[in-house]
Amino acid sequence: MRTYIGYSLGLILAALFAFVHAARAIECYECQEEDCLKPTIELRKEECSSLLKIRTCLTVFEDESQTKILSKRCGVQDEVLSLKQQKGCKNVQMRDQGHKQSSNHHEELRLQCDHAIQCHKCAKEGCLKSASELDRSECSSLLSIRTCMTVFADDSQGSVLNDDNTQLEFLTTMETDGIALCSNTPRETGQIEKIAQRIAYLRLTGYGDTFTVEAKPNPSNLAYTGKALGLHTDLTFMKLQPGLQFLHYICQPKGTSGRNQFADGIHAAQILREQDPEAFHLLSTQSVDYYDWGEDAYKFHMIQRRPVIELSASGDRIEEIHFNNQLRDYQIGELTLEDVNRFYRAMIRYNDILYQNAINIKMEEGSIVCFDNLRVLHGRTEYPSSEGYRFLEGAYVDWCEVRSRRRVLQEKLGVVPPPIF
Ligand code: OGA
Ligand code: ZN
Repeated sequence: MRTYIGYSLGLILAALFAFVHAARAIECYECQEEDCLKPTIELRKEECSSLLKIRTCLTVFEDESQTKILSKRCGVQDEVLSLKQQKGCKNVQMRDQGHKQSSNHHEELRLQCDHAIQCHKCAKEGCLKSASELDRSECSSLLSIRTCMTVFADDSQGSVLNDDNTQLEFLTTMETDGIALCSNTPRETGQIEKIAQRIAYLRLTGYGDTFTVEAKPNPSNLAYTGKALGLHTDLTFMKLQPGLQFLHYICQPKGTSGRNQFADGIHAAQILREQDPEAFHLLSTQSVDYYDWGEDAYKFHMIQRRPVIELSASGDRIEEIHFNNQLRDYQIGELTLEDVNRFYRAMIRYNDILYQNAINIKMEEGSIVCFDNLRVLHGRTEYPSSEGYRFLEGAYVDWCEVRSRRRVLQEKLGVVPPPIF
């Protein structure tokens, strides 16, 4: 009987507690009831913006649990850091013993990218000279990979790390051509960070400030398996999508597995506009949802709705590409069923053009490729574990800081006069 009374009392108290909390919740999310959430998975701030209320969720900030959340998050970051320290090159190099380097790699690279020379010319023919800003669309018919071979090999001569002229060339190449390559770097983690620190800050994301790409147990991303990755831009699910990506090839498997593809997405979009204006129109006006949900450096649930081809406000310039079929949700704009089929055809058409214009490269160990993540798409072929171990380090940097660094260097080297305010 005592148990029964205790049990009932418990139930009443629990109900009262739930009621008090629910009442506060209803008050706090009043706006939600008025349809802010219902038709969309995103919260619509404009529908709520007629009233700027300071809601009375006082407990949220006063509650100690908030502090706990913050300190827990810092703890996670510390763990990531210490994990990274453990994951040094020694570990990697031990696994990598016996790997043969291909001696004619650079020759192959040049043959595969003979249009690089053309693109170089293009930069010389006025892409850089007169404009205070660099115009990538003028170069976008060509995708080149430059080889900055001396980067780490000899610090005294022309390296991105130590020589302002080389660094300026590296940055302008990235702006105009969309992609640049540094070879002969030490095959251990930490090299990207060294370059990035000479330019700007690394961009911190849910995958950490730098991330390693290898086949991992319990992968948080398809990239962390040995499977192929279709051509894509990274982190399309973030509104502020990282502008540049670095990938450092530390260990590569044997043979042709784990090859990379790179394609100029702006150039491909220009071809699409000429060949299939309706497909171009659909991809530049209808938004798709990109998402990423899981845990890496911390737990995240990212969603961003945006068109694949982003145009300038006036609509005449192709500004950015956001394409990642691996992280695309099923939600597509406001389309009818018929239009959905047309939209998928447009995506396939664009994907085909990308592959028709892609370069295929098996990156040499020690190479760091850096590319415009809002323009150049990257992908890779699969690599079965029987072909050997593959290990990359990657990181992001943002465009505004890279452009700022380029301007600072231009002024310092007298390429352009300092601005007059
Ligand atoms: C990635 C990715 C490329 C590779 O991690 O997003 O595209 O070559 N990796 O593994
Ligand atoms: Zn990627």
